[in-house]
Amino acid sequence: MKFNTKVIHGGQHHDPSTGAVMPPVYQTSTFVQTSPGKPLNPDYEYSRAANPTRTALEHALASIENGTRGLAFSSGLAATDCVLRGLKAGDEVIAMDDLYGGTYRMFTRIYKESGIVFHFVDMNDLEKFQSLINDNTRLVWVETPTNPLMKLADIAAIADITKKHPNILFAVDNTFATPYLQKPLDLGADIVMHSATKYLGGHSDVIAGALIVKDEELGSQLHFQQFATGATLGPQDSFLVLRGIKTLHLRVQRHCENGAKIAEFLLNHPKVECVYYPGLPSHPFHEIAKKQMIGGFGGMVTFTFKSGAKQDAIAFLEKLKVFTLAESLGGVESLANHPALMTHASIPEDKRKEIGITDDLVRLSVGVEDADDLIEDLKQALA
Ligand SMILES: Cc1ncc(COP(=O)(O)O)c(C=O)c1O
Repeated sequence: MKFNTKVIHGGQHHDPSTGAVMPPVYQTSTFVQTSPGKPLNPDYEYSRAANPTRTALEHALASIENGTRGLAFSSGLAATDCVLRGLKAGDEVIAMDDLYGGTYRMFTRIYKESGIVFHFVDMNDLEKFQSLINDNTRLVWVETPTNPLMKLADIAAIADITKKHPNILFAVDNTFATPYLQKPLDLGADIVMHSATKYLGGHSDVIAGALIVKDEELGSQLHFQQFATGATLGPQDSFLVLRGIKTLHLRVQRHCENGAKIAEFLLNHPKVECVYYPGLPSHPFHEIAKKQMIGGFGGMVTFTFKSGAKQDAIAFLEKLKVFTLAESLGGVESLANHPALMTHASIPEDKRKEIGITDDLVRLSVGVEDADDLIEDLKQALA
């Protein structure tokens, strides 16, 4: 199947008991057994281990990322946590130096505390990256494009290096790109992670996470971690994400079209200093974007003000009418966010400055509305 067919049919079956085209929301915690230890259906005993609505979603996730196993979690961070739980004190992680604030907080305030060593590095400096690999390195964690600076990492080039080290797992947070544009497993990554809260769900109505892998043994290990610790996605939320996935291709196409128009508009606006959008030829990682993001460059656009003033960013955000000032991204509606005060406030100020999350930085999640209305809104708020 091609991708646009997979989002609708990949790994899906009509409900065997009723013929329902969409899987019902199996709102049940447990399943009947005919004799102790003999469930009526051997696949289902207790919903923390498996639930048919979640299974339908997990099959869809595996299908759209070209994996063999998908796992659905109660949030994106729960999915990340499941990978980190496989590590022990003394193990080392090499991570990209620009990450979603919550991922950075988990790495530095939970796992660093338990003795895991983190190196945050510019993943485009492959020599530096390679020099950090040693016998204790167990995990390489990359987000591409990154939240909020739209930095990119060359997934295939990193995979070429990690593949030489059988003890290292290479995980990619594919939240911003989505599998419509970028398939990390095909490029050599071992694990794909999603905040399914974003583009996969697509409607800002659910918190969810996902892991997808190609290797079945790794899939079983991650499932064991998830089952043993319990951060699974409930049946209602599984249904919502599955429904979102069915229109992923249509939505992301429009996100890309609108994102490109808005990046172009901002680039030519006299009050705007920098525009971070991988589709712009001026973007420092445009060549990597063209190589690994196939079919567009997404709907996330970040920019700064010529004045460099925090107050200008705040005044702009307060004046928006079509864009909604709110955390999160990837829904059908356009959202605007001030990373330093909102999504990335958990990163210490000096660290934020060091990586470029300045106080005049604004992040836009460009939705699927009419692009003219969005541009008019930006125009009036900038004026
Ligand atoms: C790139 C990225 N990864 C991970 C997460 C965490 O996901 P969640 O909020 O679903 O836990 C987010 C949330 O904004 C994100 O933007």
